[in-house]
Amino acid sequence: MGPGCQHESDEDPVDAQLLDMARRTDGFVWYEGSTAQLARSSGSGHGEPLLRTRYNALAATVLDTNLMVTPDTLFPEGSLIVKELMTDASTIGTYAILYKQSSNSYADASGWVWGYVRPNGEVRVSAKDQGAACRNCHTQVGHIDQTLMNISFP
Ligand code: HEC
Repeated sequence: MGPGCQHESDEDPVDAQLLDMARRTDGFVWYEGSTAQLARSSGSGHGEPLLRTRYNALAATVLDTNLMVTPDTLFPEGSLIVKELMTDASTIGTYAILYKQSSNSYADASGWVWGYVRPNGEVRVSAKDQGAACRNCHTQVGHIDQTLMNISFP
């Protein structure tokens, strides 16, 4: 990787693992039970115009009957939240990933590992940064265990 590279090295195994997990869709539950692509909110830190968010079975244990995130809860260990950031209706530009694994050396103080990877493996922000580019925004007033979907899409 030369200094002219436009992206970080994609060789970190944690980034590769997060991408691998994000690619799978079986057993996931969609926010509000909908696969509809939502227009990104004005507060979104994510450039792509469309998005949709899904939760693995462990993360879904803290969703309520409307399949929104229950206020004042913490996601359990093993939770995986994947936001598919779409450049157009049929193209995923980036997977934004939150994976709760306190034992991971890249986990933040809340146990979240932060992933930001394109489907082709290109790493936009490495998990080794521990969400430094993400957490200021994700700890804004009203966050639930650093998640924001309920604020943008109440
Ligand atoms: C400037 C604010 C901002 C920054 C910076 C930001 N995000 Fe987000 N993110 C949001 C908002 C707002 C949402 C809710 C959905 C939406 O409106 O796009 C969101 C949603 C998400 C979700 C879906 C789960 C949820 O409810 O929060 C994930 C996963 C995610 N972001 C990961 C990341 C990662 C990884 C980074 C850093 C590389 C990051 N975000 C940086 C604002 C931000």
